[in-house]
Amino acid sequence: MKVGLILDLDGVICDTAHYHYLAWKELAKSYGIELTEAHNEELKGVSRVDSLKYILSLGDVTLTDEQFQRDLTSKNEHYLQFVMEMGPQHLLPGVPYFFEQVNHFNLPIALGSASKNAQLVLERVGLDKKFTAIVDANTVVNGKPDPETFLKGAEMLKIAPEFCWVFEDSAAGIAAAINGGMKAVGIGTPEQLPAANYHYSNLGEFDFNLLKLGRN
Ligand code: BG6
Ligand code: MG
Repeated sequence: MKVGLILDLDGVICDTAHYHYLAWKELAKSYGIELTEAHNEELKGVSRVDSLKYILSLGDVTLTDEQFQRDLTSKNEHYLQFVMEMGPQHLLPGVPYFFEQVNHFNLPIALGSASKNAQLVLERVGLDKKFTAIVDANTVVNGKPDPETFLKGAEMLKIAPEFCWVFEDSAAGIAAAINGGMKAVGIGTPEQLPAANYHYSNLGEFDFNLLKLGRN
């Protein structure tokens, strides 16, 4: 059976979810809003624009379009300061092993990220040449939980959605995988990601036997 893998980036491949949180937290503070870890769970997998709308709703803050754009830019500049310090040592545990297995089984693999910085982050951690296809926020109209990101990835891999396995740390991403008819592998706990079909604390724990490779 031919299967395809589709990986989220932030929080699955590297700990950039934490950098997003730090940058949003500082911006939220400037509005007098205390952004908590629980709020941050809601922001995982959510686009840059929708994240800012969510934060503003926490404090009933209204911005002009100009201020909104200015604050998006300043959050991104803050986030990029963290990214520019990153290197291959910032891969999450188990990621190098996971990619060894992907090579070993010669599996088609796509990136499916909600980030506009995906290409840059992949370059920083040295994985930009490892993907058959890259789908990110620059190429998609409807963000997660809409399945467009992953359906596009499946199409580029030329694998039917039901044979695609999506690896995600966000509730929005797990919902997107399920909405697309794919297997949803949660990188997180069942409490964080109740809708996922499987749960692991990192990519390296994934059981490749589940893919039933070679049994066709
Ligand atoms: C997602 C992250 O991958 O990308 C979100 O989970 C982030 O936290 C979103 O807001 C957009 O990222 P960027 O890099 O385009 O601001
Ligand atoms: Mg993520």
